[in-house]
Amino acid sequence: MNRRVLLLAATALGFGASSMALAQSLPPLEKKDSYTVGFAQMESNNPWRIAETKSFHDTAEACNWNLIATDAAGSAAKQVADVDSMIAQGIDVLFLPPREEKPLIPAVKKARAAGIPTFLVDRSVDPAAARPGEDFVAFLGSDFIDQGRRVAEWTIENFKGDKGIIVQLEGTTGSSPANDRKKGFDDAIAADDRFEIVASQTGDFARDLGRQVMETLLQAHPDVNIVYAHNDEMAIGAIQALELAGRKPGDDVLVVSIDGTRDALQAIIDGKMGVTVESSPFFGPLACEVMNRYADGEEIEHWVQVQDRIFTQGNAADHIDEAY
Ligand code: AHR
Repeated sequence: MNRRVLLLAATALGFGASSMALAQSLPPLEKKDSYTVGFAQMESNNPWRIAETKSFHDTAEACNWNLIATDAAGSAAKQVADVDSMIAQGIDVLFLPPREEKPLIPAVKKARAAGIPTFLVDRSVDPAAARPGEDFVAFLGSDFIDQGRRVAEWTIENFKGDKGIIVQLEGTTGSSPANDRKKGFDDAIAADDRFEIVASQTGDFARDLGRQVMETLLQAHPDVNIVYAHNDEMAIGAIQALELAGRKPGDDVLVVSIDGTRDALQAIIDGKMGVTVESSPFFGPLACEVMNRYADGEEIEHWVQVQDRIFTQGNAADHIDEAY
C-alpha cells in the first residue's frame, strides 16, 4: 500500500495521533517512469497564457508525462471544477496557476485531501488560507512585488518631465500579480513627490479591456503622461487608445509594463514603450525538475523563485527572437 492510499485510509478510519502526524505531512510522490500530471490553466486569451500552456505540453513529451490540461476560460469556478475532474481522473501531481487568490483555495485543499502533491505555478493563493509545505508543496514563480518596484524605479530614473501624472491599469482583481505589482509600484513611486497616481483601475490583464479602460480614463485625465500597466497586453491596449486620441506614446506619454511579450519588445524597439520587466511563462521545465526532486524525497523550498530580466531600448532587439 503506498503512502497516499495509507493516508486516505487513515483519514477515512479516523485513526488517532498517528494518523494526525501522517495527515500533517505533505503527500509523497512515488518514483515512477511516467506520471499523470494535471495542469489547470485559467484562460487562454493572451500570448503569455498560450506560451505557458505550450511550455507544459512541450515538457510533457520531454519529461514523459501523461498530461491532462484544461482551460477555465477566465472563470475561477470552472478552474475549481477542472481540478475536481482531474482528481477524479487520478492524477499523480497537480500544477495550478490560481486565477485569483481566494476562490481557488478549495481546489488546493481538495487536492491535498486526495493526497495529490500540488505545486502552484506563476500565481499564488492567500497565504492566510493555504500555506506551502502544508496545503501545497511549493509556489514556483516570480517576485511580483519586486517587478512592480523595478518598474517604478526605472520610471523615477527615466521620466524626463517635472510632474508625472500616472494612470495604472491593474490586472485581474483579487489575483496575486495584480495585488503585488500594485503594492511594489505604489510603495516605490511614493518615495518621489514628482509623481502622482491619478487613477488605478482593472483591465483584467486583457488587451481589449486595457484599451477600453484607457479610453475612459483619458477623458477624465487628459493630462496623463505615464501609463503603468500590470502586463504587456494592457500596455499595448493603452498604446492603441492613446494613439486613437492623438497622443504620442514614447513622446508625450511614457508607457511602462511587465511580461516581455513579442509585441511589447517591438513597441520598445519602435520607441512607443519605455520598459517591460520580465515575467516568464516558461514554467514547464522548472515544473519537471522540481517534481523530480520531490519524487526523490528532497525537501522543496516553499518558494522556488524565478529571476526576471528587464527589457529596454538597450536590449529589446537582442531578445525579440526568443519572445512569444
Ligand atoms: O500571472 C502572470 C500574469 O498573468 C502575466 O503577467 C499576465 O500576462 C498573465 O495573464
